[in-house]
Amino acid sequence: MKNIVLVGFMGTGKSVVGKRLAKELKMRFISTDDIIEDMEKRPIAEIFAKSGEPYFRKVEKEVISQAADSENVVIAAGGGAVLDEENIAILKKKGIVVCLNAAPEAVYERTKKHKHRPLLNVDDPVSKIKELMDKRAPYYAKADYQINTSGMSVPEVVKEIIKITNA
Ligand code: S3P
Repeated sequence: MKNIVLVGFMGTGKSVVGKRLAKELKMRFISTDDIIEDMEKRPIAEIFAKSGEPYFRKVEKEVISQAADSENVVIAAGGGAVLDEENIAILKKKGIVVCLNAAPEAVYERTKKHKHRPLLNVDDPVSKIKELMDKRAPYYAKADYQINTSGMSVPEVVKEIIKITNA
């Protein structure tokens, strides 16, 4: 059984879906963001603010490389992880990569209560979400499968992933 890797924009449900999927398939759940925060002993917002995004991406790359080499895991990758082509290539070696998609407005609704995503802590988050989504579309398109989560519940998304990956 290959690993299952969830990619996609912030707020598309990678963590919540990934946890349930892992439980259902009796696999281990790994969130690259959580590992980065554990390793760095500080929240992502602080890493961005004090050390900058390039530093965050460097740590993220190391974490992706370790996670990608694990067995029997569901991996939720941070939303920007696929911007590095080596990251997606390495994740595909042992994993099936599934991209979760949602409309910008849905992402805004899901993320507005939280302040831990530094890229969305701006004056006009909806415009920022649209701009980043457009820029990143070609990278997300490299996933093996795409799921449009609009109107789907978490259990429905989990079921769909199990179906398309034959897990
Ligand atoms: C980021 C997404 C975040 C986190 C960081 C940067 C991005 O993860 O890695 O804030 O560039 O899209 P989530 O997608 O889990 O929010």
